Amino acid sequence: MEPSSLSLATLFLLTAVSLFSPSHSATCTSQTFTNNKLYAFCNDLPFLNSYLHWSYDPAQSTLSIAFISPPARPHGWVSWAINPTSTGMVGSQALVAFRDAKGEMTVKTYNVSVYGPLTESKVWYEVKESSAEFSGGLIRLFATLVLPEKEKTTVNHVWQVGPSVTDGVPDKHEFQPANLNSKGSLDLLRGQSDGASGGDSRTQKRNIHGILNVVSWGIMFPIGIIIARYLRTFPSADPAWFYLHISCQVSAYAIGVAGWATGLKLGSESKGVTYYNHRNIGIALFALATVQIFALLLRPNKDHKYRFYWNIYHHGFGYAILTLGIINVFKGLNILQPEQKWRDAYIIVIAVVGGIAALLEAITWTIVLRRKRKTKNDKSTKA
Ligand SMILES: *[C@@H]1O[C@H](CO)[C@@H](O)[C@H](O)[C@H]1NC(C)=O
Repeated sequence: MEPSSLSLATLFLLTAVSLFSPSHSATCTSQTFTNNKLYAFCNDLPFLNSYLHWSYDPAQSTLSIAFISPPARPHGWVSWAINPTSTGMVGSQALVAFRDAKGEMTVKTYNVSVYGPLTESKVWYEVKESSAEFSGGLIRLFATLVLPEKEKTTVNHVWQVGPSVTDGVPDKHEFQPANLNSKGSLDLLRGQSDGASGGDSRTQKRNIHGILNVVSWGIMFPIGIIIARYLRTFPSADPAWFYLHISCQVSAYAIGVAGWATGLKLGSESKGVTYYNHRNIGIALFALATVQIFALLLRPNKDHKYRFYWNIYHHGFGYAILTLGIINVFKGLNILQPEQKWRDAYIIVIAVVGGIAALLEAITWTIVLRRKRKTKNDKSTKA
């Protein structure tokens, strides 16, 4: 009657263990370049969906960068700058990438001394080479710079995106919080960057998305399955297990749909960077879970001839949700890169849930076997 024993418990543990990877890779570490350039460091910048890759050679004080950013509109510009004298825009020595009048991607330098129209000029550093590409909604700005002050290995940097370019001059950018906070300090040798903190609503949204989905797909759905699978063995738990199972899964579904919606929103906001696997598994989970909710309405009576098939489908979908849900939690953790303790915490929770399932599986089998033996004995005494 039951699918293979211990499968549930081992599934939990195997999934948890095999997907556990201690790597701390940020999004930028999976970005590659068509020219096969490699950089020593990269940072996911905290605002404007931008990424900076760089290598620094202290002996020559050469800084090689790739700055990846979505312009505010397709014909807009993106900029990365060092500010040697201050923080923020005024005083920054900027590289700006955009499409020139001939339709080719170009990189120009600007000494941003005042707010107002920019004029191309020499800057604080020497630009040995520069180029830019536009594809998939993203501009990639490449440059090799020689910094004039060898001992200065921590610099203030600023990045920006703008909507348009008029007659070869980048037009002014928006003044939203993200545009004003997109600055930080960059340790060229150690690879740390701290952006201005506070007001990062994107991080907040990502955290909300993470919490809702971990609670729903990663914890509540598995617990709901355990309730259905093991409480049913005890005659005294009937029909309580059924209502517990239903309320657990319906609330998990409600939270899961909210988490799913925040994921769609995040996906639509993240131009040019799509986590295909995570997104597709998410969509599959939503579809499977929605069918499961309808299963409740279509459930044939216990003695109906179709009930057998309904059981197979309902259990199959349930185990698919269980597996995909846990896989997607780990995929999400890899994308979100929270502190290690959160990943550890989830692994502990899921291992405990898995341990409980293993224990209940053993108890269930003991009970079922004992019952079978008893009925057999009863029959033989009657005969
Ligand atoms: C940039 O402009 C400011 C103000 O006009 C000027 O003082 C500074 O020397 C300029 N920097 C460079 C590298 O030309």
